[in-house]
Formats: sequence, structure tokens, C-alpha cells
Amino acid sequence: MTVVDSTARESARVAPVTVPPFAVISGAQVRRTLHGCEKRITELVEATYRAHGAGDSVNPPSYFLRFPDRPSSRIIALPASIGGETRVDGLKWISSFPKNVTAGIPRASAVLILNDHDTGYPFACLESSIISATRTAASAASAADWLSRDRPRPTRVGFFGVGLIARYIHTFLVGTGWSFDEIGVHDLSADSAAGFRCYLEQSDTTGRITVHDNAEQLIRNSDLVVFATVAGQPHVSDLSWFAHNPLVLHVSLRDLAPEILLASSNIVDDVEHCLKADTSPHLAEQLTGNRDFLHGTLDDVMAGRVTVPTDRPVVFSPFGLGVLDLAVGKYVYTEVARCGELHVVDDFFHELSRYG
Ligand SMILES: NC(=O)c1ccc[n+]([C@@H]2O[C@H](COP(=O)([O-])OP(=O)(O)OC[C@H]3O[C@@H](n4cnc5c(N)ncnc54)[C@H](O)[C@@H]3O)[C@@H](O)[C@H]2O)c1
Repeated sequence: MTVVDSTARESARVAPVTVPPFAVISGAQVRRTLHGCEKRITELVEATYRAHGAGDSVNPPSYFLRFPDRPSSRIIALPASIGGETRVDGLKWISSFPKNVTAGIPRASAVLILNDHDTGYPFACLESSIISATRTAASAASAADWLSRDRPRPTRVGFFGVGLIARYIHTFLVGTGWSFDEIGVHDLSADSAAGFRCYLEQSDTTGRITVHDNAEQLIRNSDLVVFATVAGQPHVSDLSWFAHNPLVLHVSLRDLAPEILLASSNIVDDVEHCLKADTSPHLAEQLTGNRDFLHGTLDDVMAGRVTVPTDRPVVFSPFGLGVLDLAVGKYVYTEVARCGELHVVDDFFHELSRYG
């Protein structure tokens, strides 16, 4: 029997491939590509959750870069790889600088690098704050749909923390068919609440808009509650506010005291990812010493492996998976290329002959 060294076999296999051209895709191009595609992107995100659930992905833990001199800020690296039709590797590199907001610019900024499956060469760098907000909103819209299938469909939505992510989530809810009788708004910042209200009034939405100064009133008056604050520690701990068993999209991950989670059905995007970095589910695990409070993942719900009890609140805590950014980023790349609008950087890779 001839033993073929696996490295030799791999180099034999990749020998004919060439270095791909390198393209830069601007935020304007990303926005043009994704605008108005809420249903399609939500389906793409659901397909990606299914692929991830089936093991057709590699999604290691996110790496948090923190700074002693800027404790409220961070930059997170999310490397990932996805198979199937998307078949791409890559890295999302996203900054969160909450103080940006007081200067009038968004908190988060990001790039996404896509790497070629066969050569490993990066072939695109995309502006990615829009991709990140889009995949987050699509995930929230998907969860709102799947987690409300066994309970009356919510007609009163409450947004708790109303920055850019809340805006994208509202757009995705409306774009995937939701309409509301009432829209509640609560934010510590009166400017944010006023800005979000202004966005709602100009958007294609129905429903009476109420700004609640009081967090309790917002929650008690909403059967769909969206948390999108920048809170670092739980600040909502009164279980009686949730007596009407709302559906909670806990997108900002650290708002709810563990006691609220322990009295709820808990659905996450990925168990290992979500039980990290002092998220509320992580605190609940530390408090109880087990994971019994978790019911499953959104993929489990979509596949029918888990049914969501209706006699208590249901809380969706999505850590945010790099594979979602890859899937949406590859979609954008393919569409921009199809329209012939790729901005290729000529000669980006220059040292292409091993011995010169
Ligand atoms: N899970 C995910 O996949 C995912 C993805 C992207 C963003 N996020 C999270 O979404 C959150 C919102 O992001 P953004 O870009 O909209 O931020 P942003 O700074 O634009 O808006 C956050 C808003 O929350 C308000 N706020 C802060 N603490 C509050 C509190 N205790 N009560 C009420 N309001 C409060 C702020 O005043 C601000 O208006 C962040 O925590 C971010 O990390 C999660």
C-alpha cells in the first residue's frame, strides 16, 4: 500500500488554483444590497443556524480585546468558517466604543474579511457594521416568529434601549410581516428615545407610540420586549414585571438578573458561546451550578426538537455568531460581483512567486 502524505495530497489538489483578486466593499454598497431584503436575509440566517446546528461550521469562541485605559470599550474578533453552498472562511473584527454615541457617531464599527476556501487568500474586505446589525436583526425577527408560534402573536412591542440595533430590529420585524397596535419605547437617554420615536414616525409602521420613562411600565405593557441597551450588568430583576409571560429578545445579553431567566424558558443561539463573558445566562449558570435552565437553541426550536412552554416568559439570548456575518457578507459579495460593481484593488497581493 502506498502511503500518501496528506500535505502532499493537499498541495497536489490545490496546485491549479490561482490567487483571487482582492475587493473592498463599502458601507454604501452593503446598504444598497441589503436594503428591503428582510425576508431573504432572515431565511439566510435561519439556513445558517441550521447548518451550524448540523455541524457544517467552525465557530470558535470570540476573542475580546479590552483596554485598561478605556474599560467601557472593546474590539471583538469573530473567526468562523461555514460549509454548504456558502463555503467561506473569514473574520469579523468589530469595535464597541459606547462613548462614540455622545459624539454623535455610532457605537460599533466593523470590517469583515472573507477568505477563499481553496487558497486561504483573503478576497474581500467589507464594511461590516451594517452586516452585523442586519444579521442581528434577522436573528431577532426569526426568534420572534418561531418563539411565538405556540402563543398568541404579540401585538404590543416594547423597545428597551433604542440605538442603531433597535432600529434595525424594528425594520426587520416590519419587513418580515409584523405589525403592532402599540410600540413602547424606553431609554435612559431622552435624546435616544426622541431619535427612535422620530425614526418610527417616519417609518412604514403602524401602532400607537408611547415613550415610557419607567422601565416597569414598558415591560408590563409589552408582550414582545426587545432589549438593546449597552448595560454591562443586570438592571432588571423584578419578576412580577413579567407576570404576563412576554416573549423577550434579550439581544444585549446582560440586562436581566439570573432570577428572571430561572423563571423563564431560555433559548440561545449556541450554548457554549452564550454561557460566557458574564451574559445573564452565564450568571444563571454560575448561580445554579448547572445548565438546566436552558431549553435549547433556536435551531432546536426550528427543527421541532424543543417546544417552548407558554406558561412562563420566553427569553431568547443570542450571543451573535460569526457564521451569520460570513453568510450575510458572502451574500453581499456575490450580489455586488453579479452586478459588476466590485472595487478590486489591483496588485493587492504582490509577492506571488515563491523565489521572486
Ligand atoms: N447579540 C448580538 O448578536 C448583538 C449584535 C449586535 C449588537 N448587540 C448589542 O446590542 C446593544 C445595542 O447596540 P447599539 O449599537 O444599538 O447601541 P447604542 O449605543 O446605539 O444604543 C444603546 C442604547 O441603550 C441605552 N441604554 C443603555 N443602558 C440602558 C439602560 N440600563 N436602560 C435603558 N436604556 C439604556 C443607551 O442610552 C442607548 O440609547 C449592545 O449591547 C450590543 O452589544 C448584540
